[in-house]
Amino acid sequence: MNDIQNEFISTVSHELRTPLTSIRGFSQTLLNSWEKLDEESKKKFVKIIEEQSNRLINLVENILTVSKINADKPLIREVNVNTAIDKVIQMIKQKYSSHKITTHFNKHLPPAKLDEDKFQQVMTNLIDNACKYSKPDKEIKVSTSFSSSEKILIQVVDQGIGMSEEDSKKIFDKFIRLENHLTSTTQGNGLGLYITKNLVELMGGEISVKSSPNAGSEFSLEFPFFNQEEALKCSQQS
Ligand SMILES: Nc1ncnc2c1ncn2[C@@H]1O[C@H](COP(=O)(O)OP(=O)(O)OP(=O)(O)O)[C@@H](O)[C@H]1O
Ligand SMILES: [Mg+2]
Repeated sequence: MNDIQNEFISTVSHELRTPLTSIRGFSQTLLNSWEKLDEESKKKFVKIIEEQSNRLINLVENILTVSKINADKPLIREVNVNTAIDKVIQMIKQKYSSHKITTHFNKHLPPAKLDEDKFQQVMTNLIDNACKYSKPDKEIKVSTSFSSSEKILIQVVDQGIGMSEEDSKKIFDKFIRLENHLTSTTQGNGLGLYITKNLVELMGGEISVKSSPNAGSEFSLEFPFFNQEEALKCSQQS
């Protein structure tokens, strides 16, 4: 086994142990002190068990995705990005019902050259982060347009907690979570953006971020069109 695999296994073991220890601890307390605990404490402990189980499920799903990234060949076809993004937003709204997510689509965009499932996973990770790391009363904007290099440009802009330039260089690495009040009070394993960057590059795209502390973040994606020549004509007309 090489050093990278060793490091991965030791980080994963640590990430698994933390929620498991907490689930075991709170279940034992409930079982051993059931009669002594009041209703409120019991509810609180069961809630922690539920949260930690969700964290484990999320972690296992993300680790499976990481292990499959290079094994799974992308299913590249014509994808209408506006329609695909709309579907993702409908799903995210069920989880973050009070966040205002607005779309600013160029309706004349020709189809992109993408794997639709992987693209939806990318958009889910970015919009989920935008909601998670901003207050519910702050708007999140998702836009599509022609980029300056005649590709599709997709941007997810939030008005959340933001980050320093130095931190913005680290966030695409595995298991990175920045230290701030929102990362300590929300769930996550720091794998979302690592998966996102890998999927984007697998589909021939690029991802970048601009952000500053307390001033929100702007994530940009660029992907090629399915038919680059036709798209060029469209961009000149629109
Ligand atoms: N829109 C954003 N605004 C501010 N910070 C962000 C934003 N997106 C990501 N971050 C920071 O980058 C870190 C890494 O993001 P990433 O999506 O990889 O992990 P996560 O959201 O913590 O967990 P998960 O694996 O569930 O996605 C986050 O923990 C957070 O500190
Ligand atoms: Mg995330």
